[in-house]
Amino acid sequence: MNIEFMPIKKIKSYLLLLISTVLVIGCNDSDTLQGNSVIPKVNAYTEHASKGFDFNGELFIHLKNNEQPLLDMVALGAQQIKSDNPQISNVSIINQAENTSSSSTIVLNDFVSGFQEEEYQLEIGKDIITITAGTVKGAFNAFQTLRQLFITNQDNGYLPQATIDDFPSYSYRGLMLDVSRHFFSVEQVKKIIDLMALYKLNKLHWHLTDDQGWRIEIDQYPLLTDIGSYRPETILEKNFDPFIGDGTPHFGFYTKEEIREVVQYAKQRNIDIIPEIDVPGHSSAILAAYPELGCTPGPYDVSTRWGIHAEILCPSEETFTFLTNVLTELVDLFPYEYIHIGGDEVPTRHWQQNESVQLLMAEQGFTEEKQILGYFYNRLNQFLLERGRKAIGWDEILEVDITGQTNVMIWHEKELAKSAIEKGHHVILTPAKTNYLNYYQGNQNTEPLAQCCLITLESAYQSSMEIEGLNESEQQKILGGQASLWTEYISTNSHMEYMLFPRLFALSENFWTKPEHKNFQQFKDALPAHLSYLEAQQVNFKPIER
Ligand code: ACM
Repeated sequence: MNIEFMPIKKIKSYLLLLISTVLVIGCNDSDTLQGNSVIPKVNAYTEHASKGFDFNGELFIHLKNNEQPLLDMVALGAQQIKSDNPQISNVSIINQAENTSSSSTIVLNDFVSGFQEEEYQLEIGKDIITITAGTVKGAFNAFQTLRQLFITNQDNGYLPQATIDDFPSYSYRGLMLDVSRHFFSVEQVKKIIDLMALYKLNKLHWHLTDDQGWRIEIDQYPLLTDIGSYRPETILEKNFDPFIGDGTPHFGFYTKEEIREVVQYAKQRNIDIIPEIDVPGHSSAILAAYPELGCTPGPYDVSTRWGIHAEILCPSEETFTFLTNVLTELVDLFPYEYIHIGGDEVPTRHWQQNESVQLLMAEQGFTEEKQILGYFYNRLNQFLLERGRKAIGWDEILEVDITGQTNVMIWHEKELAKSAIEKGHHVILTPAKTNYLNYYQGNQNTEPLAQCCLITLESAYQSSMEIEGLNESEQQKILGGQASLWTEYISTNSHMEYMLFPRLFALSENFWTKPEHKNFQQFKDALPAHLSYLEAQQVNFKPIER
């Protein structure tokens, strides 16, 4: 080879190939970066030879199982593999009946028993890649790993011969997007869903309502969107006192048709959507539309500033009718079993000053306003249970008497999970300290305006999902983890992406990969190829410091 006239990138890849060949020769069980460049890192990777499956030209996918959901998934996978890789000229799907004499074929075996729901195995040979799984979800995960292997080996045009055995540590691997503080288009939400799927995140928690805007069409309550989705302006940076606004109206909501479209789009990508209606606090937008649901005469406005607001829903029968009607429409729109009903940051001052609330307390034998929160949550949870659904609430609901069937989303110290589990709850971990991607990720003087604290790429990666002192069955009550993105200071698509990537990759590895297989240096070394992919997809990100 004449390296004199080669582009630097090509020389680098030849050098890398040379080094990895030296490392791999005579060493069958190596865990080399070049082969295992998948994020989240796969749990078992054995490389047999560094040069293997050639993917320059045409690829074939041979299906041994022609069930419709699998066919749909494979059709999408084929299209994605083709569009990710310019050197692949075509991806053809061959069905059961046809033979597989062609080279460069991906064979999808009949489903097998004995695999966990999301588990898969990939056997990458010279001419054939074999996928084995027990379900469509498992096969989907195999396709995402394959997509990443193609993307990260593009410079070579072939994959190492290897065996991969892989399954997730947690069944809930989520991302929360706050679309209330700033509204994001269907197109942008779909773009994020595409990336979540590629990195094996499978739950989108859609924070659809808050003090600063109601973002979902509800047939029975048109004022929620006519009034509640619009605010006349937004606080400028952190100018709380004296208040300075930007003078620019902010508005937007999703129609029911758009919601259905996004739910379907996510489902095709193995992602369930959990809608959140945050009540009884964070409800200024509801109260601006329907002031009769408050405990004070108002007036109420869709808020133009951030923080905890005193305006909360009154626990009246009128409010319960309103909420159960809204939940009925949500149950119809969102097929996944969980619905998030908020519960964070509820100042009860307005309840203390209200006669009907005091009457309710006497009736129920309550001595503190806080106890009403338990009553409030148990009623909503019961309503959902009767419709085959379950409620999720933020961890403040642990301070009140709620039934064990409510799932708790931990956002304070993750150790709170222990007491939640002891009380019989399932939990999802999104501790602010490590999982709030709206926090700064570098020097506050040079980074764009963000919230209080610092979560670097490394600290996100090194944060652990482990909670000390849990036995095996208590451990099972941790459904998984979630990255969360609050958007007070994030108003554009590119800023949203900048805050998410690559820290979201680090968290996805925490949710998927067994702690004993994680390695920050390997993760960091794998990143450049993934960041190049983001660049090619026009996704913004924070460049990594070398
Ligand atoms: C929260 O961060 N208020 C859940």
